[in-house]
Amino acid sequence: MEKLVIKGPTPLKGEVHINGAKNAAVAILPATLLIDGICTIENLPNISDVKISCEILEKLGAKIKWNSMNSVTIDTRHINTTTAPLDLTSKFRASYYIIGSMLSRIGEIEVGMPGGCKLGARPIDQHIKGFELLGAEVNVGNGTIHAKANKLVGTSIYMDIVSVGATINVMLASVLAEGTTTIDNAAKEPHIVDVANFLNTMGADIRGAGTDIIKINGVKKLTGNCTYSVVPDQIEAGTFMLAAVATKGDLLIKNCITKHLDSITAKILEVGGQVEDYGDSLRVYCNKRPLKANIKTLPYPGFPTDLQPQMGVVLSLADGTSIINESIWESRFQYTQELNKMGADIMAQGKTAIFQGVDHLSGAPVYSSDLRAGAALIIAGTAANGITEVYNLEHIDRGYENIEEKFRAIGANIERVSY
Ligand code: EPU
Repeated sequence: MEKLVIKGPTPLKGEVHINGAKNAAVAILPATLLIDGICTIENLPNISDVKISCEILEKLGAKIKWNSMNSVTIDTRHINTTTAPLDLTSKFRASYYIIGSMLSRIGEIEVGMPGGCKLGARPIDQHIKGFELLGAEVNVGNGTIHAKANKLVGTSIYMDIVSVGATINVMLASVLAEGTTTIDNAAKEPHIVDVANFLNTMGADIRGAGTDIIKINGVKKLTGNCTYSVVPDQIEAGTFMLAAVATKGDLLIKNCITKHLDSITAKILEVGGQVEDYGDSLRVYCNKRPLKANIKTLPYPGFPTDLQPQMGVVLSLADGTSIINESIWESRFQYTQELNKMGADIMAQGKTAIFQGVDHLSGAPVYSSDLRAGAALIIAGTAANGITEVYNLEHIDRGYENIEEKFRAIGANIERVSY
């Protein structure tokens, strides 16, 4: 087992390079199943969710060659089974994208019930509704999902809830369907646009991604023979922006799309930090105690739930009382108990948490309950006085490449230690 040992406080200073987006990569990799050919995906983050995605593709018959730590060439010409490995697909959330892709390409698939961070109930009713409206039969039981279709036919699908996963999955299922599919009330996150751009590069005809109505004109075949580079990770960039503020540091965050970070920039300015926008990089600095602010998480372009815990660290140290309303996930305040062990004063109930800002945090042993909680605890440990030990690193390794090396390069005193 491993833990991170962090000695603080350190104002983080220097440059940090942002990797490709986890939540785009874990959709683009299964999307390669739609291609009857070979393609190369670059700027993949080197994280465990990406490695498992590649293992699943291999088990389905794809041939994968790693060109570097961040680039793979995938040959999906010889897909030879309709059963995805149940143990691997149950390990993470995005395995559900195998369903949309395989329904489209082969017409049948069985996967394990998707796993992932425990953030409360994570139903997939909107995915299933979309598949069924396209003509598939879907059965859920005994920890598996089985989907089958003789033929998928384009139709109009209204999403009852704005869902990233359901929007992408229905897009995947309809790329090779007969006729036109319209997704109404679609999610608009940057990774949805990225998946659509990838598919269009491979020969799909998807219009409107990034708006709330997406139109997919079915095509006969995707042929590949292309190279595609994954969009920079908005959440990793936001994590470092908030780390700069929480530690009263000064960071140049390179290789990001600053437009994707507008909601975070706005909140950083509100709490008294400074942001300089250079288009593909951002300088974020803060030389005083942050001010209080209220946050409500919302689908893009609202403030992302995946940066709520990191923002929570900033507000735990703010001058005054702040409120966070988490509108996406039921159980995303587990990290507040850990911050309270470090001297924070946070009361969380249901989807609301009240932060009475304290003027410092103190190091303590803390447990990461999920990926973003883990990132928040690393920020807290870097800002806190004394030694913080962060446990349950498997969550963090799912979504951040070389996190401790990146923190060390900007001044943090952080080590990964086996125990
Ligand atoms: N929902 C339903 N029915 C569905 C689908 C979703 O009720 O069929 C609800 C969910 O319970 C939730 C809301 O709709 O309350 C939004 O869920 P969404 O489907 O958008 O989430 P997701 O696709 O499962 C992705 C990210 C999450 C991120 C959310 C919201 C991936 C692999 N995961 O999850 O990322 O929090 O969108 O932006 O893309 C993370 O990276 O740490 C993470 C948890």
